[in-house]
Amino acid sequence: MTRVRQWLAEARRLVVLTGAGVSAESGVPTFRDAMTGLWAQFSPEELATEVAFRTHPQRVWDWYQQRRTALRSVHPNAGHRALADYALRYPGRMTLVTQNVDDLHQRAGQPHTLALHGDLASDRWLDEPRSCCLTQPPLAGRPPRCPVCANLRRPAVVWFGEALPTDLLARAERAATECHLMLVVGTSGVVYPAAGLARRASAGGARVVIVNPEETALDDIADACLRAASAHCLPRLLEPAPADTMD
Ligand code: OAD
Repeated sequence: MTRVRQWLAEARRLVVLTGAGVSAESGVPTFRDAMTGLWAQFSPEELATEVAFRTHPQRVWDWYQQRRTALRSVHPNAGHRALADYALRYPGRMTLVTQNVDDLHQRAGQPHTLALHGDLASDRWLDEPRSCCLTQPPLAGRPPRCPVCANLRRPAVVWFGEALPTDLLARAERAATECHLMLVVGTSGVVYPAAGLARRASAGGARVVIVNPEETALDDIADACLRAASAHCLPRLLEPAPADTMD
């Protein structure tokens, strides 16, 4: 911890890459936990692909609605808050890239979050919207649809097999290439292109530090692994050094 705090103090450009584990202590289930993870209970192919949505729109819509409802009663935890406080304390130093769609970084006050996998609370059109989609209010339903052409509303998240938003990914890749230190927090590191950002940072000469109670698929490139829960570890890692607090 002391060594990593020293690296942090030296790093002029920091990237933080987060995954589901950063929200675990807020009560949001992760994806790959063997017992409680979403993908232990549900099949991604049946719920998180465009084919699944076109085949069973109501089933997929209802599953996302359940997750949206669950998110309304959760709150950012000490890990989200420590990251946001750090970003505000050192403007322009940190780029936060998240795979999470839960909005908890943003709700903690994190400026400029790059949410690579979208936003669970928002919808968008399934097919390219025509003028009718843009001028007529959608008909309520599960899912809502355009009253004229029957185009469907879908959750504004990235599904398996879909490309990430080009602009966001390019910004994240640039930040990873240029950073001096990357913190990889609460992700198993198995989903690309997000996990590739850590490999890119390492290849560019940045130090990579992993915060995760378990082993991850990115441990091979880590300069240090802090085996701890993020809500416990991040406040200690990111708290101001004594000199910073003296006026
Ligand atoms: P995973 O479920 O794959 O991994 C969660 C990670 O969090 C694991 O490595 C856990 O050990 C770790 N973890 C659990 N509790 C923690 C805690 N309190 N503090 C720190 N770490 C903790 O989730 P992601 O890596 O985020 O994609 O998954 C990546 C993507 O796969 C998701 O964005 C989602 C999913 O399919 C899409 O939906 C497109």
